[in-house]
Amino acid sequence: MRERKQDKLLGIRTVGTREWEWLLDRIHYNRYEATPYRALDILSEKYMFSCVNRIVDFGCGRGRVLFYLHNRFHIPAIGIEANLKTYEEAIENAAIYSLKAKHITAPIEFIHGLAQNYKIDRRDNCFYFFNPFSVHIFRKVVDNILLSVEEDGRTVDLILFYPVHEYIDFLETSTPFTIIDEINVPEADDKNDRFLIYRLGE
Ligand SMILES: C[S@@+](CC[C@H](N)C(=O)[O-])C[C@H]1O[C@@H](n2cnc3c(N)ncnc32)[C@H](O)[C@@H]1O
Repeated sequence: MRERKQDKLLGIRTVGTREWEWLLDRIHYNRYEATPYRALDILSEKYMFSCVNRIVDFGCGRGRVLFYLHNRFHIPAIGIEANLKTYEEAIENAAIYSLKAKHITAPIEFIHGLAQNYKIDRRDNCFYFFNPFSVHIFRKVVDNILLSVEEDGRTVDLILFYPVHEYIDFLETSTPFTIIDEINVPEADDKNDRFLIYRLGE
C-alpha cells in the first residue's frame, strides 16, 4: 500500500520484481526488487545526505532509491542498470518524475550498462548497493572506486542494503573501508532489511 502510494507521489512505477531470463546472467546478476520506502525513510533520518556530491546506485532498477533521495535532498544522482527492460522503465519514470520535480536543479541520470564497466567520476562520493550482483562483480566495482579515490582523493561512503556476508567479508578483510554505522529498520518484515555504511576517509 505504502509502496504504491509513494510511487504515485513521485510519479513513478517501481513496485514488483524482474528475474533475469538467461541462466548465464543469473549466476552473477540478481533480480530486480526495490528497496522498501520504509527503509529509505529510516536511512534518510540517520545518514547525512547533505554531504553527498553525487550518489551512484549500482543496479538502480527502475530508479526508486534515486528518485526518492533526489526529491528529498535535491542531490545529483546517477543510476547504472544492466537489464534493458528495467532501464527503459527507469527512463519512463524519469520522464514523468521530471515534470513533477521541475524546481529541483540537481541532475538525475540513468545509464544502461554493467556496474563493473562504469567509470567512477570524481564527483561520485556515495555508492548504493541493494545486493545487485555476485561478490565477484562487487570486487571489481570496489576496485574501480578505490582507483578513483587514488586519483582524486576524497572521502567516499558505501551504503549496503540487505548486506550479504560475502560483501562484508570482502570489505573487512581485503579493503581499507571501515564500518561507520549500522542502521536497522524497525518492524521490517525481514530481519536482513538493514543498512551498513562503510567509509574510506582521506
Ligand atoms: C535488488 S535490485 C535493486 C534495485 C534498486 N537499487 C533499489 O534498491 O531499489 C538489483 C538490480 O541490479 C541490477 N543488476 C544486476 N547485475 C547488474 C550489473 N552487473 N550491473 C548493473 N546492474 C545490475 C538488476 O537488474 C536489478 O535491477
